[in-house]
Amino acid sequence: MTGGGGTVGQLNVIRTVDGVRAAIAGWRRAGETVALIPTMGYLHEGHLALVDHGRRLCQRTVASLFVNPIQFGPTEDLDRYPRDEAGDRNKLQAAGCDLLYAPTVAEMYPPGFATGISVTGVSGGLCGAARPQMFGGVATVVTKLLLQTLPDVAVFGEKDYQQVLVIRRFVRDLDIPVRIEGAPTVREADGLALSSRNSYLTAAERGQAPVLFQTLTEAVGRLQEGGEVGPVLAEARARILAAGFSKLDYLELRDAETLEPLERTDRPGRLLVAAWLGRARLIDNVAVPEGKAQ
Ligand code: PAF
Repeated sequence: MTGGGGTVGQLNVIRTVDGVRAAIAGWRRAGETVALIPTMGYLHEGHLALVDHGRRLCQRTVASLFVNPIQFGPTEDLDRYPRDEAGDRNKLQAAGCDLLYAPTVAEMYPPGFATGISVTGVSGGLCGAARPQMFGGVATVVTKLLLQTLPDVAVFGEKDYQQVLVIRRFVRDLDIPVRIEGAPTVREADGLALSSRNSYLTAAERGQAPVLFQTLTEAVGRLQEGGEVGPVLAEARARILAAGFSKLDYLELRDAETLEPLERTDRPGRLLVAAWLGRARLIDNVAVPEGKAQ
């Protein structure tokens, strides 16, 4: 059902700002806490783990579904981004989510919309360099979603590690009264991080894809044993390209909190990668604990 709101099965679907505010106000009047799980849909177990995370912290959970056009560059995959709202609704209902907020593009960006949130520092480099449009678009839409729903908690997946840090940054900078929770990456049995974009992989590419996580894990092991950062990263990059990936946007060791480049593992770090396999741009990251002195 479209319009202000409606019930499909048991899960209420709301498409307007007024509608979502009214639904949440009812919960607030009953003294209930609220978690928001922002998504772009085509939900998988990773998203459902975010819902679970929200349900452990709050009495009510709202999932948003909005494929945000302003975070895609002109040559990126906005038009072919996978969509399945009916399937998403069923999955959310089975996961115990209380409400699906699925605004239209016109509701989110009405004619004359002219405002953007821009975050410097942590959004530079890595995905911010490869996809210059992305973090401004993410910051703008997440700010709007937070102000529309005013949740106690908002939950994001750590597969998009830089995104979580960007969101924490502007939430702090703009004094938005919400707790941002990062939830661990959910993986297939062979290690591949779950992603809606995995649906772009052919069967052969799906067979090659786990090399990304295997390579990160092995590189962390070598760094822990005292391996030098430069050679360990160079070898990891070469291995990913040799496994059939066509291009690496980056594979880098960064400070886990600031995302500044790390030359040695003398502080908690994060090893982050973005690489192209066929039509899919896959990203992943793993923690790098402080290692032996180098
Ligand atoms: O991670 C995503 O799916 C999106 O970037 C988000 C946070 C829902 C904003 O559109």
